[in-house]
Amino acid sequence: MMPGVALVVGASGGIGAAICDRLISDDNISVVVAVSRSDCPARYINDPKVSVVWHVSDHSEQSLVEICRSVSQLEQPLTKVFIATGVLHGEGWGPEKRIESLDAELMHHVFHINTVIPSLWIKAITSVFNAASSCDVIILSARVGSIQDNRSGGWYAYRSSKAALNMVVKTAAIEYARRFKNIRFLVFHPGTTDTSLSKPFQKSVPSAALFSADYVAESLMQVLMQPNGDCNIRFLDWAGKEVVW
Ligand SMILES: NC(=O)c1ccc[n+]([C@@H]2O[C@H](COP(=O)([O-])OP(=O)(O)OC[C@H]3O[C@@H](n4cnc5c(N)ncnc54)[C@H](OP(=O)(O)O)[C@@H]3O)[C@@H](O)[C@H]2O)c1
Repeated sequence: MMPGVALVVGASGGIGAAICDRLISDDNISVVVAVSRSDCPARYINDPKVSVVWHVSDHSEQSLVEICRSVSQLEQPLTKVFIATGVLHGEGWGPEKRIESLDAELMHHVFHINTVIPSLWIKAITSVFNAASSCDVIILSARVGSIQDNRSGGWYAYRSSKAALNMVVKTAAIEYARRFKNIRFLVFHPGTTDTSLSKPFQKSVPSAALFSADYVAESLMQVLMQPNGDCNIRFLDWAGKEVVW
């Protein structure tokens, strides 16, 4: 099989960075195209063995178009896309415990990063594909975005932004099945992972249930190897188990 190009969106995040590190030692990947708001880390710049093309992006539509155009111009096909952007808390704010805590501005902020940005990427990559393209598109979501699985409530903006994201991916998968028959979507729940996103909430998590980002990146690669039959979209966790929508 000819090695392909992997695109990682949100490449400076805990999980996004671990995915990049995992991909650069993958024989099936010849180039990692990494997108982040931050500059390229020194460990990639100084290593001639590493083929990483780093784009600093504000995720504006113009930026997405330009990055996708540069991906189209690479010699190898795009075979893996990982979208790892997400936010749960920030300076002076966190997930809501009560409906009274909902704040319009923060809700827009959370939806923009968790739903709008990934959706625009799913739109933008259509310019790279043709009817014969074969690619796995992995979207980092969360089990708390499952409507059926919601038993504990709370976290209004985060939960609903992930539920909306899941619906966008599901809807895109229906359209992609008509236009790009060999593109498969994986909506992925990584489990509680030791990154800045989960830091304030780790106290109540038993150590065995708190994963390193490297473990999650490796688990994701294993999950991608599972056969998926005729289905072009799955919602799975780090162990490869189905998550209810
Ligand atoms: N950690 C967990 O326990 C956990 C559990 C369930 C689901 N997830 C999901 O896994 C994904 C990765 O999260 P993580 O744990 O790696 O968290 P993280 O270390 O905090 O990384 C956050 C990610 O979001 C991007 N991001 C943050 N603010 C942004 C903004 N204003 N505009 C554009 N991008 C922004 C970052 O991209 P840059 O490269 O630009 O910094 C980075 O990729 C998220 O979708 C998260 O919801 C995580």
